[in-house]
Amino acid sequence: MPSISKKGLSMPQSPIRKLVPYAENAKKRGIKVIHLNIGQPDIKTPQIALDAVKNNDINVLEYSRTEGSENYRKKIARYYAKNNINVTADDIIVTTGGSEALSFAMGSIADNDDEIIIPEPFYANYNGFATASGVKVVPVVSKLEDNFALPPIEDFEKLITPRTKAILICNPGNPTGYLYSKEEIKKLAQIVKKHDLFLIADEVYREFTYDDKEHYSVLQEEGLDNNAIIVDSVSKRYSMCGARIGFLVTKNKEVISTALKFAQARLSPPTYAQIASEAALDTPQSYFNDVKKEYVTRRNLLISELEKLEGVKVARPQGAFYCIVELPVLDADNFAQWLLEHFELDNETVMVAPAAGFYATKGLGKNQIRIAYVLDQENLKRAVYIIGEALKSYKD
Ligand SMILES: Cc1ncc(COP(=O)(O)O)c(C=O)c1O
Repeated sequence: MPSISKKGLSMPQSPIRKLVPYAENAKKRGIKVIHLNIGQPDIKTPQIALDAVKNNDINVLEYSRTEGSENYRKKIARYYAKNNINVTADDIIVTTGGSEALSFAMGSIADNDDEIIIPEPFYANYNGFATASGVKVVPVVSKLEDNFALPPIEDFEKLITPRTKAILICNPGNPTGYLYSKEEIKKLAQIVKKHDLFLIADEVYREFTYDDKEHYSVLQEEGLDNNAIIVDSVSKRYSMCGARIGFLVTKNKEVISTALKFAQARLSPPTYAQIASEAALDTPQSYFNDVKKEYVTRRNLLISELEKLEGVKVARPQGAFYCIVELPVLDADNFAQWLLEHFELDNETVMVAPAAGFYATKGLGKNQIRIAYVLDQENLKRAVYIIGEALKSYKD
C-alpha cells in the first residue's frame, strides 16, 4: 500500500474531539451526555446576521476577493478603531476562520524546523497548525497556582535560539481563561523587539473579558507595527462558529503580501459567510452586554460548584469561557473516557476535555481537564454534580 507522509503520521489528534466515539456510544445506550468539552456556545447568533443571508438577491454565488470583500474589510477596520486599534482595510485579510489565519501566519513567517514559543497550556490545535507548517512548538510553562499568568520573561529568554521566529499568545486564553494585562503585553513587546521576533496574538475571545478588566491588544502597543500579528474570528464573538470567517491583521506589509499569496492559493473566503459577518458588525452593544453577563454568571456558578468538590483545584478565568480544573486523579484521560464508558447518574454523564493535549511538555496537565462553560446554568450545575459523584466512585 502507498505510504502516509511522516507529517501526516505526526499530526496530533484533537484532545477536544478524540473522545467523540465514546460519547456517541454512550448516546446509543440512551445516556444523555452533557458536553463540557467543546467551545460551541449555545448563545443565539445575532438575527441581523442570519437575516442578511436570507434577504439578498444573489443569483451567482461568486468567489469574493482573495483578501475578503473591500466593504467588509473597511467595516472591520472601523470595528478595530472602536476598540482603539488603528488599522486600515489593507492591513486585514479575511480568512476561513481564525484557524486559517493561524496557518497563514505560521506559513508566512516560519520555515521547516523554525521555532515558535508558546505559553502552555495552549489551544491544542496550535500543535496541528505547527505540524502542518513544519514548525516546532517550544512551550514555556504557565501554572495553575499563578492563575496561568505570563511566565517570567527570563523563561522566554532562555528558550530563544537562532531558529526562534515568534512568540504566540492567546489573549484571553483558551484553555486558561487568563487575560494578559497591559504590563504583560509590554514585557512581551520588549522581548520581541530585542530579539527581532514576531508576536502573534490570538485575540478571538477579545470581547469576553470579565470583572471590569479591559483587553489590551498587541496592536495597541506602540512600536510593534512590524512585529505584531493578530489572529481574529467571528466564531465566538457572534456565536457564528459555522460561518468560518476570521482575519489576519498586521501593519507589517511584508507579512500581508506573503499571507496574501497563501490566500490566493485557496482563492477566497466564503461569500455568504462574509455577508453574514459584515452584517454582524452592526450587532448592538446590548447583545454583548447580555452575553457577557450570562458568561460571568456561568463562570461564578461553575467555579463555586467546583470549589466545593474535595481535592479539586481550579484557576479563576477572567476572560473567554474556559477553565482548567485539577482533579484528584492520576490520569484525566482515563477518567474522561471512564465517564463516558462506565459512569452515569440517572442516565446522564459528562464529557470533558483532558488537558494533557493542551500542553506540549510530556507529563504536564495529566491530572487536569478543560471545561468550556458554554451551557446554561442548570446544565452546568448538574454537570459539576455528576463529576463530583463520579470522582467518589472512580479508581485510577
Ligand atoms: C484560541 C482559538 N483560536 C482560534 C480558534 C479557531 O476558531 P475559528 O477557526 O472557528 O475562527 C479557536 C476555536 O475554538 C480558538 O479557541
